[in-house]
Parts: sequence; structure tokens; C-alpha cells
Amino acid sequence: MAAEFKKAFISVPKRSQLLRCSSKRIIILTALSLSLFSFFTFPRWLQLSQLLSYRQLSFLDNPAQSAPLPPLKFKRDGTFQLSIFSDLHFGENAWESWGPRQDVESIRVINTVLDTEPATDLVVLNGDLITGENVFRHNGSEYVDVIAQALSARGVTWGSAYGNHDSDRNLSPTEMFEREKGYRGSRTGRMVSGEEGEVGVTNYYLPVWSWDGKRVEMVLWFFDSRGGFRFQEEVGRENWVHPKVVGWFRETNERLKREYGGRRVPGLGFVHIPTTAFLEVQEEAGVGGRKRPGINADVPVSRQGGGWCDDGTDGEGCEYGGQDRDFMEAVMETEGLVGLFVGHDHGDTWCSDYAKKERKVFLCFGQHTGYGGYGNWIRGSRQVGVSVEGLDLGEMDTWVRLENGKVVGKVRLNPTYGGDEYENVEDEKTHLPVDGESADTVEE
Ligand SMILES: *[C@@H]1O[C@H](CO)[C@@H](O)[C@H](O)[C@H]1NC(C)=O
Repeated sequence: MAAEFKKAFISVPKRSQLLRCSSKRIIILTALSLSLFSFFTFPRWLQLSQLLSYRQLSFLDNPAQSAPLPPLKFKRDGTFQLSIFSDLHFGENAWESWGPRQDVESIRVINTVLDTEPATDLVVLNGDLITGENVFRHNGSEYVDVIAQALSARGVTWGSAYGNHDSDRNLSPTEMFEREKGYRGSRTGRMVSGEEGEVGVTNYYLPVWSWDGKRVEMVLWFFDSRGGFRFQEEVGRENWVHPKVVGWFRETNERLKREYGGRRVPGLGFVHIPTTAFLEVQEEAGVGGRKRPGINADVPVSRQGGGWCDDGTDGEGCEYGGQDRDFMEAVMETEGLVGLFVGHDHGDTWCSDYAKKERKVFLCFGQHTGYGGYGNWIRGSRQVGVSVEGLDLGEMDTWVRLENGKVVGKVRLNPTYGGDEYENVEDEKTHLPVDGESADTVEE
């Protein structure tokens, strides 16, 4: 009975049928393995599989295992968000307890900001990562690892623009760069060749692609405004963007325009030391009020070319040598550049509009992020939220996420900015907590 049942319902194939069947099977198996093969080798899928494992620190941490980072992309909804960490100033007075304690607080600020801004697509380290004059020759650049590990642990990627404190007798910015490049999450580049004492290090751009990877929708420009002192020398470094870098910026911008089919691709710029344009708007535009909210406690703005003579000597008695004019002209002539973001002045946190000959650019300070460096203004991070559509209209959103989790100075940088009114930003202060105390905001 059982045998008959089998015969009736399970037909035993003839030899010829068997052959046909197995050749079909071979075709199917081949197709399957081919598609599996291409799944793992086709670059886009490869990127996807990287992204999936990206959250794992071990994967990020081991440069030996790492493939290049996938390109930056807008989210599917057409937005992109940046968290700017300015003036972290790691590495102060390692021989005293307050120095290392400051660094612990700075890491806390980084974590709070990234906890409360989970949409962050890129972190920008906008200069003075380390306080160069306070570190030892034998391990000064290792504070880069402290920062890189904190960011890698969060699975974020970053790009740096070094500041004046990132170069000193005991600290080489080239060495910092090399350490940074040991981490897969670092997108920091060095596209202009030359000595660190001459052109600086962090001069580069990063394209940001549409979510589908079809075209570049934004270019992020990073400039090294140098300053501080030359590594292993008691010689001051010029504190402006080197003319060679300005030339590279102009040329590259033209080349990219040609490459992108004559399209003017919107851009954002990052540089540590403000240009004279920041001083001009501080003197004339009325910054820090309801129209251009933010703290305005560092007056006057400390600018590029400040303290230098116009003959290029680091002279006594010279207030300003005018060396940043060329850079600022290039910024204003570069159609498409929407905003310039700086740090350096810890007590200035506003954004202003800046117009010249029909061209308008937004100039923004960050928020002092680190517990190192001068001043006790409340720590935080400038956030920039852009969208493909908004950039097309020359608009973007920005706000400051504070270390206490609150948001202040939320504005829309658009054609009416400077006329619209926003909530005022309080001049809040925080202090380094003593033994077991929490880092609450305190009154001045
Ligand atoms: C560098 O060395 C000093 C002592 O020589 C130490 O106190 C400090 O923690 C070290 N810094 C780093 C980043 O390892």
C-alpha cells in the first residue's frame, strides 16, 4: 500500500528527465552563485555591508582591516546634518588633576551632543583639537587618539580643520594628521602639497552626494588658517590661509564646476580663525541681539592677519597686515559657497549675513566645545542642517546644542536673515565641577 502510494504521488523520473533536471539545476545554481558573488563584490553592496557593520567599534578601530569609507551622502529625505566641535583644547596640564579632568568633561560634551543629535551625518572638528603649548613632545599628538576613539565609538565620521594651537614646539600638525588617518572614521584630507609651516595641513574638500549617489549636491571645504608656532621652532606661523591654498581653492572650484556639467554646487567652508569679514559684521551689523542671536563677548574678533605687518613680518606694533583679503575675496567670488564657519573666539557664537556686490554669504561662529581653552561660556556644538532644496535657495538651518541638552540660537539662514527676530541667546557659563559635583550650569 505504501509503495503504491509512493508510486502514485511521487513520480520517479526517467534517466533523460533526470539529466534535464540537473542541467536546469546547474543553471539555477550558477545564476545564484553569480548573483551572490556580485552581491559581495559590487561596490554599492559592498558599501551597504560596510555600513551595517559600521556601528561596531572594533571594525572602525582597526585601520589594517578597513576599506575606504563610503562617500558622504544626503539622507533619503534630502537632508544632511553637521555637528561642529570647535576648540576642544585637549591635553592641558597633564601634570595637574584639572587638566585630565577637563578632557573627561570634553568627552562628556561630545557624547551629550551626539546623543541628542542622532541625525548627525558628519562631525567637523573646527580647530584647536589640542592645546599644543601644554603637551609633551613624546605623546602630544596622542590626544588625537582620545578624540578619534570617542568619535569612532559613536560610529560617526569626521573631518578636521586644524587651528593655531594644533602646531607648537612640541606638537606637529603633520603628526596629528598621520595619527588621525589611522582611524577609518577620519575624512580629513591634505590636498595642497607643502610644508606644514608654509601651507598648513588640512586643506581639502569633501563632496556630498545625493542619497542615490547620482550626483554631488554639496561640497565641504576645509582650510588651514595656520597660526601658533612652528613645530620644534620658536617661530610664529603666519595666521591666515596661505595664498597657494587660495589659488587651489579657486582652481578646484572651477574644475569641479566643469566636472559637474557647469552646475554651481552649493558649498560650506570651515576654517579655524575668522576673517576680517567677521570683524566687519561685529562692528556694523549688530550681532548678538534678537536678529543675529548668539553670545558676543569676544570684542573685537581676533582675525586672520591680526598681529602681523603688511610686509609679512610678525611685527610689534602692527595690528593687522591684510593677508586674509585674498581668501575672503575668493570666498565671495565662489558662487555657490553659502556659509563660512569658524571657531577661535570662544566668546562669540553668532551667525551673520555678509553681503558684497550682490553676493551674500553667512558667517557663523561655533560654540566652544572643549573644557580646555580660555573662557567659561557654556559648552556645546553648532549644528548645521541643510537640505538639497534649501541649499538651492541659499538657505540652511542652524542651532547650538548645549552640553545640558538644550537648544539655543535656532535660526534659518535665508534671504531675510538679519531682518527676522529670534529668541535671544543668554550668556550662560559653566564651570569644571569639583570632586563629584555635576557640571550644572551656574550663574556667572
Ligand atoms: C602623556 O604623557 C604624560 C606624562 O609623561 C601623561 O601624564 C599624559 O597622560 C600622556 N598623555 C597621553 C595622551 O597619553
